[in-house]
Amino acid sequence: MVIFGANGDLTRRKLMPALYRLAYEGRLAPGFAVIGISRTAMTDDDFRNRMHDSVSKFMEDAPFDEDLWRSFAQGLFYLPGDVGDMVLYQKIAGSLAEVGKQRQTAGNVLFYLSTQPSQYGEIAEGLGAAGLAKGEGWRRIIIEKPFGHDLPSARDLNARIQKHFEEDQIYRIDHYLGKETVQNIMAFRFGNGIFEPLWNRRYIDHVQITAAESIGVEGRGAYYQEAGALRDMIQNHLLQVMATIAMEPSATFSSDEVRDERAKLLRSVRIMTLDEVEGNAVAGQYGAGRVGGQQVVGFRQESGVRPDSPTDTYAAATFMVDNWRWADVPFYIRTGKYLPKRVSEIAIHFKSAPLSVFRNSDASGTTAPNLLILRIQPEEGISLKFVSKRPGAGMTLRPVSMDFNYGASFGERSPSAYETLLLDAVIGDATLYTRQDMVEASWRAVQPILDCWATKKFPFPNYAAGTWGPAAADAMLARRGHVWRTP
Ligand code: BG6
Repeated sequence: MVIFGANGDLTRRKLMPALYRLAYEGRLAPGFAVIGISRTAMTDDDFRNRMHDSVSKFMEDAPFDEDLWRSFAQGLFYLPGDVGDMVLYQKIAGSLAEVGKQRQTAGNVLFYLSTQPSQYGEIAEGLGAAGLAKGEGWRRIIIEKPFGHDLPSARDLNARIQKHFEEDQIYRIDHYLGKETVQNIMAFRFGNGIFEPLWNRRYIDHVQITAAESIGVEGRGAYYQEAGALRDMIQNHLLQVMATIAMEPSATFSSDEVRDERAKLLRSVRIMTLDEVEGNAVAGQYGAGRVGGQQVVGFRQESGVRPDSPTDTYAAATFMVDNWRWADVPFYIRTGKYLPKRVSEIAIHFKSAPLSVFRNSDASGTTAPNLLILRIQPEEGISLKFVSKRPGAGMTLRPVSMDFNYGASFGERSPSAYETLLLDAVIGDATLYTRQDMVEASWRAVQPILDCWATKKFPFPNYAAGTWGPAAADAMLARRGHVWRTP
């Protein structure tokens, strides 16, 4: 595996811990090797030491084994270089030949692009020009998000990559699709007989998808300022989650059939007109506030952020899906930094019972509609809310909940999204990766919002860090008689 951006945050926090964990579980071939690339001058040993420190620090909920590390680290190599310089690609070719021979990797190579996104096209072209997109074994290329900055740049990037790599070699990563709980949405929907008949506009009133983060921009101010919440989370992760919730069942679980259904759903998302954006999308930016008992500064005071930055750190939108299953069912999506807690969930709000037969009794709560919560993280699980009779005289009803909790039911550790996705790329399974048609469809869905926001001057900051976002997000739901659930 050749990692571009080997000195970056993602390599340290996610990729290397995931690879080490796969090795720990014996899921990588013994000859597996990594060639790390970045501009920093380092020897193989420097690289190994840095990775040792990161992996031991960032291994989530799993032990770190020094003996295993020593043998894993023998497969780590490093090459300094500038991705704009063709000499680098010649060096990579040399290094691949040498490492391949030493570790007997049969010429199979996975390239991982985790540099600044503006370099992705250039790297794919460099690899192509050096003849590295083809070889003795298989060649695959993983592209980290964001895939493009908007629809035209996503198309342009794709064209540059496809000049050298076939579609079945290209793995566009969206780590939300690798999360166990997101994969479980498919098991829940299509592995059970009782939910699917209810999964449509007849029974479902609306859907709320929330990805709240209690952290700020964590030193990523410069990147984040160019991206914003809509691009960073909704265009990719949350629209993919929505597609998983709303797609039709595929005939088989083959990679292309599953992705065909996801793509079809994304293509059915109604494209807002610029006039519709006002009532259907809300931008927010945090000001100073208190989070987790700590006083924090506003976004515009973060390092790397301009004092008049117009970037959204909160975004909410209402998407409608124009197909027979979902006509008139709003899908509300929201995400933000420095919200009161870290929680990602999908709340399926069912329609109320057609008639309240208990209306004459002391029955507070009788009208509470059923709610199904698919909790992505933390406290992964599923719960169904319904009303129940309170014990005792009379007919008093109260909402209760029926809960499934991953930890309690399985008692085993779930692999991280990156473990799942890296292994899938190694074995050539692209089911949980996005395809170009999906990427374009989701850019198309958010493009009117981006275009409209680009012309606006919002009164930022419009929410205090540590609160649930701007008031306009509540007003967006109130327009259709709905209220955000507090997770
Ligand atoms: C990344 C975004 O893709 O996802 C980050 O760039 C965000 O801004 C992160 O914090 C959230 O991922 P997770 O797995 O922590 O929910």
